[in-house]
Amino acid sequence: MNTYRIAVIAGDGIGREVIPAGMEVLTMAASQGGFACEFAELPWGCDYYLAHGRMLDAGGIEQVFGYDAIYLGAIGDPRVPDHISARELILPLRQQLRQYVNLRPMRLLPGIVSPLAGRSAADIDMVCVRENSEGEYLGLGGRVHAGTPEETAVQTSVFTRRAIERIARYGFRLAQGRPRKLLASATKSNALPHTLVLWDEVVADVAREFPDVTFRKYHVDALAARMITHPQTLDVVLASNLFGDILTDIGSAISGSLGVAPGGNINPDRTTPSMFEPIHGSAPDIAGKGIANPIAAIWAGAMMLDHLGERAAHDRILRAIERVVGDERVRTPDLGGRATTREMTEAVTQALGA
Ligand code: NAI
Ligand code: MG
Repeated sequence: MNTYRIAVIAGDGIGREVIPAGMEVLTMAASQGGFACEFAELPWGCDYYLAHGRMLDAGGIEQVFGYDAIYLGAIGDPRVPDHISARELILPLRQQLRQYVNLRPMRLLPGIVSPLAGRSAADIDMVCVRENSEGEYLGLGGRVHAGTPEETAVQTSVFTRRAIERIARYGFRLAQGRPRKLLASATKSNALPHTLVLWDEVVADVAREFPDVTFRKYHVDALAARMITHPQTLDVVLASNLFGDILTDIGSAISGSLGVAPGGNINPDRTTPSMFEPIHGSAPDIAGKGIANPIAAIWAGAMMLDHLGERAAHDRILRAIERVVGDERVRTPDLGGRATTREMTEAVTQALGA
C-alpha cells in the first residue's frame, strides 16, 4: 500500500478550522482508494511567532524536504504585520522548495451563483498558471533616508529567460490537455518595456512548440476586464507572480466565493515537496466561529492527491464537492447558507461515501 507522508501547516485563523476538515476527507478518500496519508502537523504560524519570535523552527524548511507534500491552511494574524508572516514563512517555502508553478483553478461549480449576472458553470472554467519563483515578489530592494522627506523605497522585479520558459512550458502543456486548448498570456509590455518584453518574447518562442494550442497575449488590465465580461473565452491564463496574484482573486470572486478557491505551489521537477492550500487567508473576521467554508481546503487536498499520482481519488473528491454545492441544502454563509464548517464537511464525506 502506498503511504504518503504529508507535512501539515494549518497555520492561523480559519486555517485551523478548514485543514482538519480537509484531512478528514483525504483520510476517507485514501481508505477508499487503497492508499494512506500520514500527517505530521507543524505548529508554525503567527502564534508560533508570538511565542518564539520567529514564524517557524530554525532549520524548519530543511525539515519539510523529507515529506511527499505539504498541506497548508492560511498564515496571518492581526497581531503580526503581514509582511513578516508572509515573507518569513510562505514565500521562503515557495522559493526554497522550488515550487515555481502556482496553479489555481477558477471554476464556477454547478449550483453556485456567480456575482456575474447570467453566468453558469459552463462559462467560468479557467486555470491560472502563475510564476511563483521570481518576478515582482523576489523581495529585492531597499529603503533609504528613513523618516525624512527624502525617504525612498526601491523594489526590483526580476525576470529570467529560464523561469519564464519553464512556466510557459508548464502552461502550454496544461492547455494541451484541456478540451478548449487556449492559453492567454498576461503582459504589460507597453508600460514595462524590459521585463515584460522579455516575457512576451520567451512565451512566444515556447508557443511555437505547441501548435495545437491557441495562444493570445493580453495586457493584464484588459485581461482583468475580460475575465468579467467574457470569462467563457478564457481557459489557461499564464501570468507573472503579481499579475497572477491579482487575476486569481478576480477568478475566485466570479466563481462565487474565496471559500471555494484552491491552489497548488508545485515543483514539477519533483526534487522537493509541493504545497497545496486554499487561496484564502486566515479570515480573522470569522475565525473561531466555525462557519468557514471548507471547500477550498478540501479541493486543495484533492489537488495534492492528484499531484501524488492518485487521480481517481482527486476525481472522487471533486464529484463529492460538486454534489454538495449543487444540491444547495448544506452551504456555509459565504455561499448564502447557514451551515457550519462541520456540517459542510460531513456533507462532503457523506457524498464521498455514497
Ligand atoms: P482572507 O482571505 O482571510 O479574507 C477575505 C474575506 O473572505 C473575509 O471577509 C473572509 O471572511 C472571507 N473568507 C475567506 N476565506 C473564507 C472561507 N473559507 N469561508 C468563508 N469566508 C471566507 O483575506 P484578508 O482578510 O485580506 O487577510 C486576512 C489575513 O490572512 C491577513 O493576515 C493576510 O495577510 C492573510 N492571508 C494569508 C494568505 C495565505 O496564507 N496564503 C493569503 C491571503 C491572506
Ligand atoms: Mg493573493
